[in-house]
Amino acid sequence: MKFVAGNWKMQKTRSEAKEFLNKATQFHIPNKTRAIIAPSPTLLECSVESSRGSAIEIFSQNCHWEDSGAFTGEISPLQLKELGVKGTLVGHSERRQYFGETNETCVKRCAAARKHQLEVIFCIGETQQEREARKTEKVLESQLTGLLKELASDPTLIIAYEPVWAIGTGLTASVEQVRETHAWIHSFLAKNNAAWPILYGGSVKPSNFGSLSELPHVAGGLIGGASLEAESFQELLNSLTH
Ligand code: PGA
Repeated sequence: MKFVAGNWKMQKTRSEAKEFLNKATQFHIPNKTRAIIAPSPTLLECSVESSRGSAIEIFSQNCHWEDSGAFTGEISPLQLKELGVKGTLVGHSERRQYFGETNETCVKRCAAARKHQLEVIFCIGETQQEREARKTEKVLESQLTGLLKELASDPTLIIAYEPVWAIGTGLTASVEQVRETHAWIHSFLAKNNAAWPILYGGSVKPSNFGSLSELPHVAGGLIGGASLEAESFQELLNSLTH
């Protein structure tokens, strides 16, 4: 199974989301491919409705660990479930960087989502500084350890490896860097009895997606900028290599 997952971040109004999803119902989705869109909370309900009857799956961009409570600005797994959302991103680097998300809170969010049968795309990745200091593996290990401890036996998790320095910068990791890092993540997971698919994210475009998605242990992409237009999303689906 391969994945084309769009992360819309804090973009689009309801009418823009509906316009995209109306076009998306006509998408040609290759065999053994899942097409996922993660819109803002205000767009979730209309996105679930507009994508009904199509193969597009709607994910949230985040999910709290409690079902309800005094957590201003958060959204609970119960609330997501009620909307008909299929899953959620957890631990995106923008959450870690700007909103104080830690490895511990990411694992709690992930476990709560799974308890409610929401699928999770769990994001990991190193900063430029960490890569330059040759700490990539150490950082990824620390981001994965708590998750493995809690959920190694869960067969449904999806990992997204997104080097922070490649997100929204136009700087895609090289094919060699992606090959090497995905191989390392794959073997680290295997050593811990997990065999989760690993997506790559960070300045993925239709023009580089083919060569990245054909690499061993790359199960597709988590894509920001290039997922915003329906035409570009279809091109990503077309350029995916199985
Ligand atoms: P980008 O974002 O494709 O715009 O670099 C990827 C992401 O943040 O998931």
